[in-house]
Amino acid sequence: MTHDRAAALAAIAEQVRACRLCRLYERATRPVPGAGSPQAEIMFIGEGPGYHEDQQGLPFVGRSGEYLNYLLKLIGLTRDVVFIANVVKHRPPDNRDPFPDEILACKPYLDQQIAIIDPLVIVTLGRFSMARYFPNGKISQIHGQPRYDDGRAYYPLFHPAAALRAPELRRDMEADIRRLPEVLAEVKRRRAAGQNQAQRDSIDEPPAGPPKQLSLF
Ligand code: URA
Repeated sequence: MTHDRAAALAAIAEQVRACRLCRLYERATRPVPGAGSPQAEIMFIGEGPGYHEDQQGLPFVGRSGEYLNYLLKLIGLTRDVVFIANVVKHRPPDNRDPFPDEILACKPYLDQQIAIIDPLVIVTLGRFSMARYFPNGKISQIHGQPRYDDGRAYYPLFHPAAALRAPELRRDMEADIRRLPEVLAEVKRRRAAGQNQAQRDSIDEPPAGPPKQLSLF
Protein backbone atom coordinates (compact mmCIF):
# COMPACT_ATOMS: atom_id res chain seq x y z
CA MET A 1 0.00 0.00 0.00
CA THR A 2 2.77 2.37 1.06
CA HIS A 3 4.64 1.50 -2.06
CA ASP A 4 1.55 1.96 -4.24
CA ARG A 5 0.95 5.46 -2.93
CA ALA A 6 4.59 6.43 -3.29
CA ALA A 7 4.61 5.10 -6.85
CA ALA A 8 1.40 6.94 -7.70
CA LEU A 9 2.81 10.19 -6.28
CA ALA A 10 6.04 9.69 -8.22
CA ALA A 11 4.01 9.21 -11.41
CA ILE A 12 2.29 12.55 -10.80
CA ALA A 13 5.64 14.24 -10.14
CA GLU A 14 6.79 12.89 -13.50
CA GLN A 15 3.70 14.29 -15.25
CA VAL A 16 4.30 17.66 -13.56
CA ARG A 17 7.89 17.62 -14.78
CA ALA A 18 6.69 17.25 -18.38
CA CYS A 19 3.67 19.56 -17.97
CA ARG A 20 3.08 22.22 -20.62
CA LEU A 21 -0.57 22.94 -19.78
CA CYS A 22 0.14 26.56 -18.85
CA ARG A 23 2.95 29.06 -19.37
CA LEU A 24 4.59 28.72 -15.97
CA TYR A 25 7.06 26.00 -16.98
CA GLU A 26 8.67 28.36 -19.49
CA ARG A 27 10.50 30.44 -16.90
CA ALA A 28 10.75 27.91 -14.09
CA THR A 29 14.01 26.19 -13.17
CA ARG A 30 12.49 23.08 -11.60
CA PRO A 31 9.00 21.76 -11.03
CA VAL A 32 7.86 21.57 -7.42
CA PRO A 33 5.26 18.80 -7.30
CA GLY A 34 5.16 18.45 -3.51
CA ALA A 35 6.92 16.40 -0.84
CA GLY A 36 6.32 14.42 2.30
CA SER A 37 4.82 11.19 3.53
CA PRO A 38 2.47 9.27 1.22
CA GLN A 39 0.67 8.18 4.43
CA ALA A 40 0.33 11.70 5.81
CA GLU A 41 -2.73 12.34 7.97
CA ILE A 42 -2.24 16.06 7.42
CA MET A 43 -1.68 17.74 4.08
CA PHE A 44 -0.64 21.40 3.74
CA ILE A 45 -1.45 23.25 0.55
CA GLY A 46 0.32 26.51 -0.22
CA GLU A 47 0.22 28.83 -3.19
CA GLY A 48 3.17 28.24 -5.50
CA PRO A 49 6.93 27.85 -5.47
CA GLY A 50 9.11 30.89 -4.79
CA TYR A 51 12.77 31.44 -5.66
CA HIS A 52 14.27 28.83 -3.33
CA GLU A 53 11.61 26.22 -4.08
CA ASP A 54 12.21 26.74 -7.81
CA GLN A 55 15.95 26.24 -7.29
CA GLN A 56 15.60 23.09 -5.20
CA GLY A 57 12.41 21.51 -6.59
CA LEU A 58 10.98 21.28 -3.07
CA PRO A 59 8.04 23.11 -1.46
CA PHE A 60 8.49 25.61 1.36
CA VAL A 61 12.27 25.64 1.67
CA GLY A 62 12.76 29.44 1.80
CA ARG A 63 11.89 31.80 4.66
CA SER A 64 8.22 30.78 4.63
CA GLY A 65 9.39 27.19 4.83
CA GLU A 66 11.57 27.90 7.83
CA TYR A 67 8.58 29.42 9.54
CA LEU A 68 6.41 26.46 8.56
CA ASN A 69 9.03 24.13 10.08
CA TYR A 70 8.89 26.21 13.25
CA LEU A 71 5.08 25.97 13.32
CA LEU A 72 5.21 22.20 12.84
CA LYS A 73 7.70 21.91 15.65
CA LEU A 74 5.30 23.73 17.99
CA ILE A 75 2.98 20.73 17.70
CA GLY A 76 5.70 18.09 17.67
CA LEU A 77 5.62 17.40 13.93
CA THR A 78 8.27 17.40 11.24
CA ARG A 79 7.87 17.83 7.50
CA ASP A 80 8.46 14.16 6.77
CA VAL A 81 5.24 13.04 8.51
CA VAL A 82 3.00 15.49 6.64
CA PHE A 83 2.63 16.18 2.92
CA ILE A 84 3.24 19.66 1.53
CA ALA A 85 2.03 20.77 -1.89
CA ASN A 86 0.98 23.90 -3.74
CA VAL A 87 -1.89 24.91 -6.00
CA VAL A 88 0.58 25.59 -8.83
CA LYS A 89 3.62 23.41 -9.32
CA HIS A 90 5.90 25.78 -11.25
CA ARG A 91 7.07 29.15 -9.96
CA PRO A 92 5.10 32.19 -11.13
CA PRO A 93 7.65 34.70 -12.48
CA ASP A 94 8.83 37.21 -9.88
CA ASN A 95 6.60 35.52 -7.32
CA ARG A 96 3.47 37.09 -8.77
CA ASP A 97 0.10 35.59 -7.83
CA PRO A 98 -0.87 32.58 -9.94
CA PHE A 99 -3.50 33.39 -12.59
CA PRO A 100 -6.85 31.57 -12.52
CA ASP A 101 -6.09 29.64 -15.73
CA GLU A 102 -2.78 28.45 -14.21
CA ILE A 103 -4.52 27.26 -11.06
CA LEU A 104 -7.12 25.48 -13.19
CA ALA A 105 -4.50 23.84 -15.41
CA CYS A 106 -2.65 22.55 -12.34
CA LYS A 107 -5.78 21.43 -10.47
CA PRO A 108 -5.83 17.80 -11.69
CA TYR A 109 -2.36 17.21 -10.21
CA LEU A 110 -3.38 18.48 -6.80
CA ASP A 111 -6.71 16.64 -6.97
CA GLN A 112 -4.88 13.40 -7.68
CA GLN A 113 -2.36 13.96 -4.89
CA ILE A 114 -5.21 14.47 -2.44
CA ALA A 115 -7.02 11.37 -3.71
CA ILE A 116 -3.88 9.24 -3.31
CA ILE A 117 -2.87 10.51 0.13
CA ASP A 118 -6.46 10.77 1.36
CA PRO A 119 -5.47 12.97 4.32
CA LEU A 120 -7.68 13.41 7.37
CA VAL A 121 -6.96 17.13 7.50
CA ILE A 122 -6.23 19.53 4.67
CA VAL A 123 -4.60 22.71 5.92
CA THR A 124 -4.84 25.55 3.43
CA LEU A 125 -2.08 28.15 3.62
CA GLY A 126 -3.26 31.49 2.27
CA ARG A 127 -6.12 32.51 0.06
CA PHE A 128 -5.42 30.54 -3.14
CA SER A 129 -5.68 27.10 -1.54
CA MET A 130 -8.40 28.36 0.82
CA ALA A 131 -10.52 29.27 -2.24
CA ARG A 132 -10.71 25.57 -3.23
CA TYR A 133 -12.75 24.78 -0.11
CA PHE A 134 -14.08 28.14 1.08
CA PRO A 135 -14.86 29.98 -2.18
CA ASN A 136 -16.48 32.92 -0.44
CA GLY A 137 -14.31 32.88 2.64
CA LYS A 138 -12.22 35.80 3.83
CA ILE A 139 -9.04 34.54 5.41
CA SER A 140 -9.07 37.23 8.09
CA GLN A 141 -12.52 36.00 9.21
CA ILE A 142 -12.31 32.24 8.83
CA HIS A 143 -8.70 31.37 9.67
CA GLY A 144 -8.50 28.71 12.35
CA GLN A 145 -12.09 27.54 11.88
CA PRO A 146 -12.20 23.95 10.65
CA ARG A 147 -14.98 22.60 8.46
CA TYR A 148 -15.72 18.90 8.91
CA ASP A 149 -16.97 17.20 5.78
CA ASP A 150 -17.12 13.58 4.68
CA GLY A 151 -14.64 12.28 7.24
CA ARG A 152 -12.12 15.03 6.69
CA ALA A 153 -11.39 18.50 8.09
CA TYR A 154 -10.53 21.54 6.00
CA TYR A 155 -8.56 23.96 8.12
CA PRO A 156 -7.80 27.43 6.69
CA LEU A 157 -4.68 29.20 7.95
CA PHE A 158 -2.87 32.36 6.95
CA HIS A 159 0.01 31.92 4.54
CA PRO A 160 3.31 31.75 6.47
CA ALA A 161 4.67 34.59 4.32
CA ALA A 162 1.77 36.81 5.42
CA ALA A 163 2.60 36.10 9.06
CA LEU A 164 6.25 36.92 8.40
CA ARG A 165 5.31 40.20 6.72
CA ALA A 166 2.79 41.21 9.39
CA PRO A 167 4.04 40.18 12.84
CA GLU A 168 0.64 40.97 14.36
CA LEU A 169 -0.70 37.88 12.53
CA ARG A 170 1.81 35.56 14.15
CA ARG A 171 -0.09 35.18 17.39
CA ASP A 172 -3.17 34.03 15.46
CA MET A 173 -1.10 31.81 13.20
CA GLU A 174 0.55 30.10 16.14
CA ALA A 175 -2.71 29.75 18.08
CA ASP A 176 -4.33 28.22 14.96
CA ILE A 177 -1.53 25.71 14.43
CA ARG A 178 -1.65 24.71 18.10
CA ARG A 179 -5.29 23.66 17.56
CA LEU A 180 -4.39 21.39 14.64
CA PRO A 181 -3.88 18.25 16.80
CA GLU A 182 -7.37 18.85 18.23
CA VAL A 183 -8.81 19.13 14.70
CA LEU A 184 -7.13 15.86 13.72
CA ALA A 185 -8.43 14.15 16.87
CA GLU A 186 -11.95 15.39 16.12
CA VAL A 187 -11.84 13.90 12.59
CA LYS A 188 -10.76 10.58 14.09
CA ARG A 189 -13.53 10.76 16.70
CA ARG A 190 -16.13 11.47 14.02
CA ARG A 191 -14.85 8.63 11.82
CA ALA A 192 -14.92 6.18 14.74
CA ALA A 193 -18.44 7.31 15.69
CA GLY A 194 -19.53 6.86 12.06
CA GLN A 195 -18.12 3.33 12.00
CA ASN A 196 -19.79 2.40 15.29
CA GLN A 197 -23.08 3.72 13.96
CA ALA A 198 -22.67 1.76 10.72
CA GLN A 199 -22.01 -1.39 12.78
CA ARG A 200 -25.09 -0.77 14.91
CA ASP A 201 -27.17 -0.17 11.79
CA SER A 202 -26.02 -3.45 10.27
CA ILE A 203 -26.92 -5.34 13.48
CA ASP A 204 -30.36 -3.71 13.56
CA GLU A 205 -31.07 -4.57 9.94
CA PRO A 206 -33.52 -7.44 9.50
CA PRO A 207 -31.93 -10.59 8.09
CA ALA A 208 -31.96 -10.80 4.31
CA GLY A 209 -34.37 -13.15 2.54
CA PRO A 210 -38.14 -13.65 2.57
CA PRO A 211 -39.83 -13.51 5.97
CA LYS A 212 -40.53 -16.93 7.38
CA GLN A 213 -44.19 -17.97 7.41
CA LEU A 214 -45.18 -18.72 10.98
CA SER A 215 -46.77 -22.06 11.27
CA LEU A 216 -50.14 -21.94 13.00
CA PHE A 217 -50.17 -25.67 13.75
N1 URA B 1 5.08 29.80 -0.72
C1 URA B 1 4.20 28.88 -1.15
O1 URA B 1 3.01 29.11 -1.23
N2 URA B 1 4.66 27.70 -1.47
C2 URA B 1 5.94 27.37 -1.39
O2 URA B 1 6.27 26.23 -1.70
C3 URA B 1 6.83 28.34 -0.92
C4 URA B 1 6.38 29.56 -0.59
